[in-house]
Parts: sequence; C-alpha cells; structure tokens
Amino acid sequence: MFSILDTYGVNHHMTTIVSGGSGNLAKVLKESHPEYLYLSRKEMDVTDRETVMSVFDREHPTMCIHLAANTDVAGCETNHDLAYSTNSIGCRNIADACIKYDTYVIYTSTDYVFDGEKGLYKEEDPPSPINYYGLTKLLGEFEIRHVPRHLIIRGTMKQDTGWRHPRVPDDIFQSLLHYSQYSWILFQLIKLNQTGIIHVGYDRYNLYEYAKSRRQDVEAIKRSDIKSVRLPGDCSLDITKLKSILNLELMPKPQ
Ligand SMILES: NC(=O)c1ccc[n+]([C@@H]2O[C@H](COP(=O)([O-])OP(=O)(O)OC[C@H]3O[C@@H](n4cnc5c(N)ncnc54)[C@H](OP(=O)(O)O)[C@@H]3O)[C@@H](O)[C@H]2O)c1
Repeated sequence: MFSILDTYGVNHHMTTIVSGGSGNLAKVLKESHPEYLYLSRKEMDVTDRETVMSVFDREHPTMCIHLAANTDVAGCETNHDLAYSTNSIGCRNIADACIKYDTYVIYTSTDYVFDGEKGLYKEEDPPSPINYYGLTKLLGEFEIRHVPRHLIIRGTMKQDTGWRHPRVPDDIFQSLLHYSQYSWILFQLIKLNQTGIIHVGYDRYNLYEYAKSRRQDVEAIKRSDIKSVRLPGDCSLDITKLKSILNLELMPKPQ
C-alpha cells in the first residue's frame, strides 16, 4: 500500500490487490512491485463471492490485477465445474467487487479464446475456443467487460529459462513472451492507463523450434498425439495495436 495527498492534503491509501498471488506470473510481478497485496487462494478464493467482497470492503483497492485461474488446460477438460467456477464465476465475483469500488481491473486472458485456424488474430476477430480452458477464460472476459475501467490482455507466457516438456507438437504457432517480458508490458500498459482488449506478444514462434532452442532432446510430436485436450494450431496474435502504444524495442529481449 502507498499513499498520495490530494489537492486538499487528504491522504488516500492506494492499494493494488493481486489475485492468484502465489502463481508464476504473480511471483514475477512481485519482484518489481513488492508493495502490492498478493493474495493466495487461501487468502482470497475467487470462487467465494463473500470472501472477495470482504477483501474489497477491507482494502478498497484502486487496482486489481486478476490472475487467479485454473490454468491446467487438460484438467479443465475433465473438471468442468472447477474450471467454470474458477475462471468464469471467479471473474464475475471480481468484476462485481471492482464495480462497487470503482477499481481498475486488469485481466490476463489467453490466445486460446481463438480456434487457431487462422493465426495472427486481431483484437476484434471473433473468438471461437476449442477447449474448455479457452471457453471459461472467454466467459471471464465477458464478466470483466462490465467493469468501467478494465484492461484485458491476451497472450501467452513461458518460463524465462529452460523447457520442461520432453515431447512438443511441431504444428503449433504462438506469440510467446517470457514471464519477465509479459510483466514489463503489463506494467507499461497500466502506467499508460490503458483499457479495452490488447493482444501482447513479440515474434510468432513455432513451439517445437522454440522448445528445441532451450532443450536439445525434445521430441517432435503432432497436436493430434495429445489426447487429453484439443490444442489450437496457430494462435499467434496480431500485435499492431500493442506496437502503436509501446516501443517494444525497449522490452527486455528473450534470452
Ligand atoms: N501462463 C500462460 O501462458 C498464460 C497465458 C495466458 C493467460 N494466462 C493467465 O495468466 C494468469 C496467471 O497465469 P500463471 O501462468 O501465473 O498461472 P499459475 O501459476 O497457475 O497461477 C494461477 C494462480 O491462481 C490460483 N488459483 C487457482 N484457483 C484459485 C481460486 N479459486 N482462488 C484464488 N486463486 C486461485 C492458483 O493457486 P494454487 O497455486 O493454490 O493453485 C495459482 O497460484 C492466469 O489467469 C492465466 O489464465 C496465463
């Protein structure tokens, strides 16, 4: 929390809360912004409307970075209830609280709102998710859009170093960012008070080529080899809008 004095010398506490505060992106945000209030699932379960409201009643946040989500893409296919309650109803609870307190909300949506048939998607292209994770995150967008000051960022992130999965489809394209780059973009957009939907990314990568550059022993497979969930083929994003707002040359480069 930090304070500002208004023209009358009145002290206003400015609190930013971050839902999903123990997740991967939250950890990276915390490195540059430790002053925010990072709330773990235990501290604010976003599926529990009363809890969300009581946190907002207590904190009166001026900004909420809503990261809490069920990000297990294959798991969302087998547990629809959990995916829907976390990713969609969780957004409804956050949105209603943000409306009540006139809170600026930032929501991290996904390129999986698209079906991956076309690639280089623009913000106004019609979404058409092919898996339940993408569908529930899209429903979350519709909830967040009720908040007068909302920013919806669609993109995808990878760890700054290394690669975990030994088998990677060679027929997937995405506009990948590292967590640190994504975090840099997010803070720049917040600083500029951006609202609406913004696609983020850098170059369009082939996922297998990218993985191979990080771990030499990765084996190439096909999307159709993955039976647990349907993954879109080309979910790369058109980032013309982002480039009109930010100078991406200033962004930390991928290693
Ligand atoms: N990683 C990507 O490529 C990517 C791409 C597009 C969008 N996003 C979005 O960006 C956000 C952050 O992603 P991430 O990579 O940091 O994911 P992550 O590491 O899985 O973080 C998500 C966090 O949400 C928490 N959570 C789950 N259910 C919750 C609930 N009911 N109430 C409160 N918290 C809950 C999880 O807590 P537990 O640790 O207790 O489970 C976890 O800490 C997510 O909204 C994700 O959908 C990510």
